[in-house]
Amino acid sequence: MQAIKITDHVYWVGAIDWALKEFHGYTTHRGSTYNAFLILADKITLIDTVKAPFKQEMYERIRSVIGDETKVDILVSNHAEMDHSGALPEVIRDLKPEKIYASPMGIKALDAHFGIGSLLTAVKTGESISLGNMTLSAVETRMLHWPDSMFTYLAEEKVLFSQDGFGMHFATDKIFAVDNDWHVMLEEMKRYYANILLPYSPQVLNLLKVFPTLNLDVQTICPDHGPVWNGELLLKPLELYKAFAEQQYVPRAIVLYDTMWHSTEKMALHIADGIRQAGADVRVFALDAATRSDVAAELLDASALVAGSPTINNDMYPRTADVLTYLRGLRPKNMLGAAFGSYGWSGESVAKINAYLTDMKAELVSDGLKIQYVPKDADLEKCEDFGREIGARLLEKCHLTQPGKL
Ligand code: FEO
Repeated sequence: MQAIKITDHVYWVGAIDWALKEFHGYTTHRGSTYNAFLILADKITLIDTVKAPFKQEMYERIRSVIGDETKVDILVSNHAEMDHSGALPEVIRDLKPEKIYASPMGIKALDAHFGIGSLLTAVKTGESISLGNMTLSAVETRMLHWPDSMFTYLAEEKVLFSQDGFGMHFATDKIFAVDNDWHVMLEEMKRYYANILLPYSPQVLNLLKVFPTLNLDVQTICPDHGPVWNGELLLKPLELYKAFAEQQYVPRAIVLYDTMWHSTEKMALHIADGIRQAGADVRVFALDAATRSDVAAELLDASALVAGSPTINNDMYPRTADVLTYLRGLRPKNMLGAAFGSYGWSGESVAKINAYLTDMKAELVSDGLKIQYVPKDADLEKCEDFGREIGARLLEKCHLTQPGKL
């Protein structure tokens, strides 16, 4: 397998995981790439490695650039998570780097994973790594999305290595973003941000504020997943991250539901219709079909979370709890919340959902809506009223006096 030239002296030597379906709870329906980059400086330098099973693919690509006597002089670990460090212990053994660099927190994390901390040298924000005729500068990006996360910048080639930042789970053999379908990339950027980075949006906004003050002339951004950004798309990931991180109110609601005998489903569809009647957009997720990360991705384009479940054994359905637990962990901002569900005799699901929504700091539209057993016409009218109330509150939050669409 061949490396791909990125700039005069930087090559992509990563691996493509066409089969990846799941990444710690996040469904990755287009696979992923584990990007590693080789810098042909006086000191041959490898930026990050790959997931352990993909080591040979990376070695082949490295060999395609520097031949069979494969050896790197310097190795930099920008992020300690195992999709980038899994191959690291074997790479150290096989490629025998003289120096290995990571952020101070990176050294702690890599030591905790592999017991290799004593082999590593710390590099902090503002410090440099000499590659002989070139220099890498470090910018720690703590909690984006791990404590160890770090960017490195190669001034001579104007390349920023951004580890998970500005990346996406998207298996493609077209390494440059400009050669890929924009709509696919936009969808996958959103999915990645919502499922991985959303809880760290305050840190993203801070980084976007601080980054220009570093005066780095960046012409290429090399993330550790998905395509490389340059040319006309260079600034797109920064613009998108700003919009994703700000999470401004938008006139769209998510209605998610699970159902036992279709009663909660009928409620969901009439609530969604009421939201539409009020002039807001709505996306309906039946949890028979949608995954937790499908719903999460929609959080970036919605400002009301309306969740429904029947009551079973004095609680909500397990899938509803699964999705709400996941969404709560993502800490979305500026959300309205509402709960609904059918019940037989006890009807706890609505209160249980409200507790999740309150934990998420969503602003509850009301105490929620419960219907016993099977909704009748009058009950379905109540569902539409409930939806209209949610829609109206959503428009009010968006300061819209007219029905609005995205
Ligand atoms: Fe791609 Fe946080 O690992």
